[in-house]
Amino acid sequence: MEKKTYYLTTPIYYPSGKFHIGTAYTTVLADSIKRYKSLRGYDAFLLTGLDEHGQKIENASKEKNIDSQTYVDNMAKDAIDLWKLLDISNDGFIRTTNLKHVKIVEKIFDEMLNKGDIYLGEYNGWYCVPCETFFTETQLVDGKCPDCGRVVKKTSEEAYFFNMKKYQSKLLEFYDANPDFLIPTSRKNEIINNFIKPGLEDLCVTRTSFNWGIKVLSDPKHVVYVWLDALVNYISALGYGTDNDELFKKYWPADLHIVGKDIIRFHAIYWPIFLMSLGLELPKQIYAHGWYIMKDGKMSKSKGNTVYPDILANRYGVDATRYLLLREISYDQDGLFSIEGFIDRFNNDLSNDLGNLVSRTLGMINKYFEGFIKRSISNEDIDKEMETSVNDIVMLVENDMDTIHIANALTDIWKIIDKSNKYIDTTEPWVLFKDETSRERLSSVMYHLLENIRKVAILIKPFMPTTSEKIFEQIGIVNSEHKNWTSLYDYYLLDDIKVINKIEPLFMRLDKEEEIKYMMESDK
Ligand code: MSP
Repeated sequence: MEKKTYYLTTPIYYPSGKFHIGTAYTTVLADSIKRYKSLRGYDAFLLTGLDEHGQKIENASKEKNIDSQTYVDNMAKDAIDLWKLLDISNDGFIRTTNLKHVKIVEKIFDEMLNKGDIYLGEYNGWYCVPCETFFTETQLVDGKCPDCGRVVKKTSEEAYFFNMKKYQSKLLEFYDANPDFLIPTSRKNEIINNFIKPGLEDLCVTRTSFNWGIKVLSDPKHVVYVWLDALVNYISALGYGTDNDELFKKYWPADLHIVGKDIIRFHAIYWPIFLMSLGLELPKQIYAHGWYIMKDGKMSKSKGNTVYPDILANRYGVDATRYLLLREISYDQDGLFSIEGFIDRFNNDLSNDLGNLVSRTLGMINKYFEGFIKRSISNEDIDKEMETSVNDIVMLVENDMDTIHIANALTDIWKIIDKSNKYIDTTEPWVLFKDETSRERLSSVMYHLLENIRKVAILIKPFMPTTSEKIFEQIGIVNSEHKNWTSLYDYYLLDDIKVINKIEPLFMRLDKEEEIKYMMESDK
């Protein structure tokens, strides 16, 4: 039977500087969902890439005194290295300066023009360079950009517009018919009530004041608006509009676009309308996540409060960085990032809870049974209760993942870890060991712990792939059927087993003071 496909995307990032933990958060989040879907048997395709045109990039390259193409080429290498470091399993990496993408944007613009959805007019308004967005007078807040609060530039020029009004009621009908199109619901309500219902304004889709972008074929003094250019990446990367469009046929429509809360409007209004104009199917879902903020507000170069993911990964390990990034932003909220919080979580969740559970259990199995444990199905109340609650937690995690409640999934997985640690305290294996007649019970207790650890190793696979493998290795699981997702549904799957006797701690406890000092001094 052919596998069901699952196509998910991150936004394509502006390579206007070194990527910080916010950008890494979106990518790790997407990667975890991709890995989860693959484990659930989907043929999953993850796309990420770079948004390389526009005034922001032109300015960044001018600052460095290099031409824009060389600038983005260098940045692309850095981005690819960073995603490799963070174990991102992307299947595609799109760059908007890629000729194939450029050709498709030219073609799409022409098609929209010929159809009458794009028309020539005059633009009078305000432009925010960092956000690459035009605003009307009434959209400004205190005369500044409503999104980032920075100074905007007055602009008046001949420009092409996209007729958004034409699609307004069709878009509302689509939202009515697809209540889960944009999640969380709070974000959807905001978009519908604050933007769509009050009436869409036609969107200015070209610029003439700079060059670094895709030229309109029939009128080359105009450069295509960077957002129209960028959004098309989701289909151009799949070969849409070319002879080589198997990927497009296979994966489109996207199952999930993951975006940050600041770029919802572009994905939830303009993108569906562009697709309607092209007569293409709309994506199935958009998930908009919150932001990482710092104690002193937004991360920014000027505040000097930016945290870089490569520094975290090189110091604390890739899996720990992935876990900690995903842990602090819940479904529809922003998350606070602090080094103190990061170290505390590392010590509590990873070193104490997970690391100790594995090392304690393996230590006892080696001490009491020379590493050998027999399969043991028990009727003890405490074991029956454990079986039921672990099975329930597996269902909870699946539901969390299917509804993109990623931080909740981690909290739920940690419930198995907590339960297992408490199980050790309650069953007191060291007391059982003193009594010769309790050998069988002691062995059964160890078996149950191993079975829980096996489950944890499977459940953390999407988030911490290397740690998951390390645990399998330590508890001696070689049979791949005991590592796959469906094996979670069988509580007593583990056979007689031999665990390793040289246990390496999964996460060494960190000295908080020392780490804070290290991070303060590390390259910013
Ligand atoms: N190039 C556009 C996206 C085009 S998609 C067709 C863009 N790029 S960006 O580099 O500025 O931002 C990329 C993503 O990073 C966005 O989803 C944004 O929300 C996310 N983040 C930027 N800062 C962030 C935090 N501090 N925290 C979490 N995510 C953050 O927008």
